[in-house]
Amino acid sequence: MTDSHSEHLPVLLNETVESLAVKADGIYIDGTFGRGGHARQVLSRLSEQGRLLGLDKDPAAIATANELSLQDPRFSIEQCSFADMSAVVNEHLWQGKVDGILLDIGVSSPQIDVADRGFSFQKDGPLDMRMNPDVGMSAAEWLATAKVEDITFVIKTLGEERFGKRIANAIVETREHTPIVSTTQLAALVDKAMPFREKNKHPATRTFQAIRIYINNELEDLKAGLEQSLDVLAIGGRLSVITFHSLEDRIVKRYFRDEAKGDDLPSNFPIRAADLHPRIKLIGKATKAGEQELAINPRARSAVLRVVEKVL
Ligand SMILES: C[S@@+](CC[C@H](N)C(=O)[O-])C[C@H]1O[C@@H](n2cnc3c(N)ncnc32)[C@H](O)[C@@H]1O
Repeated sequence: MTDSHSEHLPVLLNETVESLAVKADGIYIDGTFGRGGHARQVLSRLSEQGRLLGLDKDPAAIATANELSLQDPRFSIEQCSFADMSAVVNEHLWQGKVDGILLDIGVSSPQIDVADRGFSFQKDGPLDMRMNPDVGMSAAEWLATAKVEDITFVIKTLGEERFGKRIANAIVETREHTPIVSTTQLAALVDKAMPFREKNKHPATRTFQAIRIYINNELEDLKAGLEQSLDVLAIGGRLSVITFHSLEDRIVKRYFRDEAKGDDLPSNFPIRAADLHPRIKLIGKATKAGEQELAINPRARSAVLRVVEKVL
């Protein structure tokens, strides 16, 4: 498995690092290290006393991060989910002391580009899709055993694919005589099950997204990651989150809105907004990539950055 020819262009780089309002001596967490594009920018703003902890599930990301940690003593890395951030922060005795956290959700370009990882419907590879291939079930293992109702539910809800039932039926019929083990095999099967083709969109796009989100427990991780981020932040600390599709952005937007509102009392209850004990305040509006960035990185098209500051 190699990704030496695959780079990851960090998305909304300046906007995100600016949004963290980095303090030179502060403690920071990059919960999605990837290839360290954002992390290196944060490090460039830290003094010798500053600290940056990187997290990632992916072994290739960890390999890059290990190299960085050897060169820069301010940086350390843990292979885990950001959903387990609190435990790692406890080990560093940093609970309530973290000045900023970045979550750049989703997959990295090398994960998509390296066929062996099994994320791409365009490149033939084993149907894996795990960010950490040492943990949990691969996509092929899940599709070999899951009930047709569960496959339908995943494709419909996590892929927002209206033909989820047809696709799930085709998967279950096929697996009775042929195991579904490769990415292009699944892509061809989905293509055949679809009643028509959409312009400029591969028919398996939504199905692959759905299975990837399910296999990696992405939405549950995101919810837990947001909660744990607020727990470990210092008062005045910032949380900046970049999402890549509407299911993720909805979770972030609602969570931030609810936490910025505070206690859930009827809107006509005679109480001042500050007495509702909001935990955070929203910093600016949702930010999207500008034309200049989109011209060099089309992947930034669907990226949305949201930022909050902990106040309680
Ligand atoms: C979009 S990339 C991040 C790119 C990074 N900001 C950079 O500039 O290189 C997302 C990364 O997050 C990792 N990831 C996704 N979900 C994760 C989770 N729950 N916990 C830890 N890492 C996760 C992926 O393995 C991937 O490396």
